[in-house]
Amino acid sequence: MPLASDLAPRFAQTDAPLIGALVERWSPRAYDRNAVVAPETVQVMLEAARWAPSANNSQPWRFIVAHRGTPEFTAIHDALMGFNQVWADSAAVLIVNLVETADAEGRERPFAAYDLGQAVAHLSVQAQHLGLHSHQMGGVDRDAVKAAFGLGETLQVLSVIAVGVPGDVDALPEALRERELAPRTRLALDEIVLRSAA
Ligand SMILES: Cc1cc2nc3c(=O)[nH]c(=O)nc-3n(C[C@H](O)[C@H](O)[C@H](O)COP(=O)(O)O)c2cc1C
Repeated sequence: MPLASDLAPRFAQTDAPLIGALVERWSPRAYDRNAVVAPETVQVMLEAARWAPSANNSQPWRFIVAHRGTPEFTAIHDALMGFNQVWADSAAVLIVNLVETADAEGRERPFAAYDLGQAVAHLSVQAQHLGLHSHQMGGVDRDAVKAAFGLGETLQVLSVIAVGVPGDVDALPEALRERELAPRTRLALDEIVLRSAA
C-alpha cells in the first residue's frame, strides 16, 4: 500500500475546507490486487447507501456485490468495457449499481437514477472514510450484466463501482499511468453557480 504522503498529491485542492473524506477521495485505477476488504466493511458502505435520501423515500437503488476471487466478480469484470477491463480486476470488490425503474404498481420512478447516484455517492464517501478508495464506471455492458445475473425487466444497470486499496501506479500500462497521474481539474464555482442571490 502506498504511503499517505504518496497519495496526498491526488487530494482535491479545494477553495474551502471540506471534510476529510471529500478531500481525499479520488478515483484510482491502480489497486493492490492482494488487498482484501472484509464483507463487514462492505456492509458499512452499503449501510451508508441505504440511508441516502430519495424521492418519496422510494429507495430504488439495488446492488450486486462481488469480492475478488468469486465467479460473480469475474462475471462483472467480464462485462466491463475498454480500459476498465485492464485495471478493475485488481480492486478488492466490484459492486453493480442498479435501479428498480418502476414501483410495485408499475408506475415509472422519474428520479430513480438521481436517487441511485446519491446512494453511490454516500457509499463512496463512507468507503473513503474507512480508508478505502473507489472508482465508478459507466463503461459496462449492461445487457451482459443482466444476462449474467438473470435480472428482470424492471431492473436497470447504471454503473459499477470498484472498491479497494490503492496500489502501485508504476505497474499500470503507460496509457493508464498517464491518466492516473494527470492533474485533477474542476470547473470553477462561478461556472457552475448560474446565479447566487444573498
Ligand atoms: C457515472 C460515472 C461514470 C464513470 N465512468 C467511468 C468509466 O467508465 N471509466 C473510468 O475509468 N472512470 C469512470 N468514471 C470516473 C470519472 O472519470 C471520474 O470520477 C472523474 O474523472 C473525476 O475524477 P475523480 O473521481 O478522481 O475526482 C465515471 C464516473 C461516474 C460518476
